[in-house]
Amino acid sequence: MAKTKTKWICQECGYETIKYIGKCPDCGAWGTITEEIETDNLIPNSTITDNTEPACPINSVQLSQSIRFTTGLSEFDRTLGGGFVQGSIVLIAGDPGIGKSTILLQTSNSIAKNQKVLYVSAEESVSQVKLRAQRLNVDAPSLFVYSQSNFELIKQQIKEVQPDVLIIDSIQAVYTQNITSSPGSVSQIRECTNELMNIAKSQNITVIVVGHVTKDGTIAGPKVLEHMVDTVIYFEGDRYKSYRILRSIKNRFGNTSEVGIFEMCDNGLKEVLNPSELFLHEREKNITSGNIVIAAKEGIRPVLIELQALVGQTSYPSPRRVVNGIDYNRLLQILAVLEKRIGLNLSKLDVYVNVIGGIDIDEPAADLGIALAVATCARDVIVSPDTVIIGEVGLSGEIRNVSSIENRVKESEKLGFKKVIVPAASHLNQKDFNIEIIPVKRLMDAICACVHKEEALLTK
Ligand SMILES: Nc1ncnc2c1ncn2[C@@H]1O[C@H](COP(=O)(O)OP(=O)(O)OP(=O)(O)O)[C@@H](O)[C@H]1O
Ligand SMILES: [Mg+2]
Repeated sequence: MAKTKTKWICQECGYETIKYIGKCPDCGAWGTITEEIETDNLIPNSTITDNTEPACPINSVQLSQSIRFTTGLSEFDRTLGGGFVQGSIVLIAGDPGIGKSTILLQTSNSIAKNQKVLYVSAEESVSQVKLRAQRLNVDAPSLFVYSQSNFELIKQQIKEVQPDVLIIDSIQAVYTQNITSSPGSVSQIRECTNELMNIAKSQNITVIVVGHVTKDGTIAGPKVLEHMVDTVIYFEGDRYKSYRILRSIKNRFGNTSEVGIFEMCDNGLKEVLNPSELFLHEREKNITSGNIVIAAKEGIRPVLIELQALVGQTSYPSPRRVVNGIDYNRLLQILAVLEKRIGLNLSKLDVYVNVIGGIDIDEPAADLGIALAVATCARDVIVSPDTVIIGEVGLSGEIRNVSSIENRVKESEKLGFKKVIVPAASHLNQKDFNIEIIPVKRLMDAICACVHKEEALLTK
């Protein structure tokens, strides 16, 4: 009879202990350690496959011709670094209802034109998957659908169908009988992923696993899940907005700085080849004060994004600072620079900054845009709507250069803007662009450049 043993495992980080403790000594989380019972030695606990090839010099290793294959969605390929690598294991994680099953079903359809795909849904019945497939026009004959959460039965189907690509939707819903703990527990996730890795590497099957994320945005289950797989991709977006972003967090076979942008439509996800247009299309022609367009970067692509600031008299003892889409501390730093270097008194004013479209900006190139949005709104001055603002603001009020400045300016030019305010240190040559380049050295220069001088002086 197989021996069983009891372990106490932290559901946050996977830390193991032999008895219950309230606080995990590894990650510091409280009340996350739960009891799990494991049956001993029924499954291999290693990722070593049955590979019998001896060690050989690297220069004699032959690569097969088609080691990569495309997904049919160029934005997805871009995120993966040029498509899926055969025999790799990819984790796609995202909030509930963000569109993970949708993108995988769409992708399966185009992959199934050349390869056999097995789509295992552990959360939906075959007819529910069919319902979505109908909406997405998915009907490739080499796409097999299987509704099952028992990992042993899934393995049998893998043996029978012999797919080239296997999709597991989702890893938190699948369970193996070898472990008595419930689906979604650390032990279950770890063992199922381990088995999937063995299947991927030994049978050269590309495995795509869907993972749920927890409330704080991390993948539910142990961190080891991210270590085990070859590629981790987050599918993000605001559920109330139609756009979605695929972002690669870890990629053993490609660059992690690329992102793919999609729009959720009635018949599935549509690639967004020009993201700036998507983020600016709702922009009003009659701009009010505090509205600014900045050139941010999503992955390595420049994207024009609208920023709004609202500054008004406070009715609280200490004024409010509310941000949406930018870092709170970054705003405080910019406000401090505005007060000290420009003389703008904000101590009795509430400041709200919002990035339109629910996008998050975490790069310093947005600093100057934020500073100008706040400063112009405080004085109720309108920045010309055909101007794009780029630059980092230093603590002494100097404007610092940012990366990929040429690409950002080119994107502004492409979208029909007339002027772009850039850091003087970028040394851009006006001759290379069909858009007016306004180099600025200091924050005050930038304010003077985008509003009338007299209005700018009022801020003194
Ligand atoms: N008929 C429809 N028309 C347009 N969009 C739809 C329609 N039905 C679903 N959607 C979109 O698809 C999303 C759900 O997609 P999907 O089921 O792929 O998400 P998921 O990430 O797999 O969710 P879960 O985490 O629950 O598995 C919905 O939030 C909605 O935006
Ligand atoms: Mg789903």
